[in-house]
Amino acid sequence: MNDISLIEKSLYGYIPEKYLYIDKLFNSMRYSVEAGGKRVRPRLVLEFSRLCGGSDEAAMPFACAVEYIHTYSLIHDDLPCMDDDDMRRGKPSNHKAFGEDTALLAGDALQSLAFEVMSLPQTVSKAGADRAVRCISKLAFYCGAKGMVGGQIIDLENETKTATYEEVYSCNDLKTGGLIKAACAMGAIIGGADEEKVKLAEEYGRAIGIAFQVVDDILDVTSTDEKLGKPVGSDAQNHKSTYLTLFGIDRCREMVDELTGEAISALNKFDGDTTALAELALSLAKRNY
Ligand code: IPE
Ligand code: IPE
Ligand code: MG
Ligand code: MG
Ligand code: MG
Repeated sequence: MNDISLIEKSLYGYIPEKYLYIDKLFNSMRYSVEAGGKRVRPRLVLEFSRLCGGSDEAAMPFACAVEYIHTYSLIHDDLPCMDDDDMRRGKPSNHKAFGEDTALLAGDALQSLAFEVMSLPQTVSKAGADRAVRCISKLAFYCGAKGMVGGQIIDLENETKTATYEEVYSCNDLKTGGLIKAACAMGAIIGGADEEKVKLAEEYGRAIGIAFQVVDDILDVTSTDEKLGKPVGSDAQNHKSTYLTLFGIDRCREMVDELTGEAISALNKFDGDTTALAELALSLAKRNY
């Protein structure tokens, strides 16, 4: 089984088919989780765990947790009060399929599920209590006001003014870099890395996280709805300040290459085989979806 199939098997396993009278909520959670996606964040958890000596079995619940948080962030990001986008992962957005009320609650419930899965007795016994708590703390920090949610509010404010470079950098570093840094750090922690190596994992995550959002912003201008599975032109429609509006496409492409180089430099300080993580950074920089 390849990594994506392995991740998806675990990811689907924690969401029940039937539970009391709550079918609609679980259907809407499953709808977005099962719609696909590149699974970048869980792959990062597994790769950093492998690099630092961890088992996939111990790392997998944390890989699922970051993907649940990511999926919740996408459901909320598409709502009319946010980016107001009607398509996601090639299907109608969650609120288009289930209504805004259910979409809001599906996002809330996916967030709780992430923390439930990370703190299950079987998760803690495989990862070790100390490592599990450090991971829970990392993800809590990076998904909240000082991470993804904080980035999302800067992002909304960047629709009402011409933002500075610092404002756009902070937005990307938090809204997208947050969960990517959390994924890298959690993998390293599960593998038993010391604080210095966890910081290096986060430095790799910071660099690919910013690059990832810059590529996303480029694709919003250059790609198609069919290729991306989400509507292009969303940023322009929302008058959003991005790296693209600040620097133009050519400089953005150079910046993506520079950031990818920074990520690969951070890997050089690890002892093990970093090929998979270097290749992942390069493939994300070159992606066309
Ligand atoms: C989309 O993330 C939102 C951003 C942070 C740019 P992804 O591009 O990872 O979305 P999926 O998971 O593949 O659908
Ligand atoms: C979203 O950034 C980042 C999140 C935290 C969800 P975008 O708004 O650019 O993501 P897409 O383009 O809708 O996937
Ligand atoms: Mg957005
Ligand atoms: Mg969006
Ligand atoms: Mg986008």
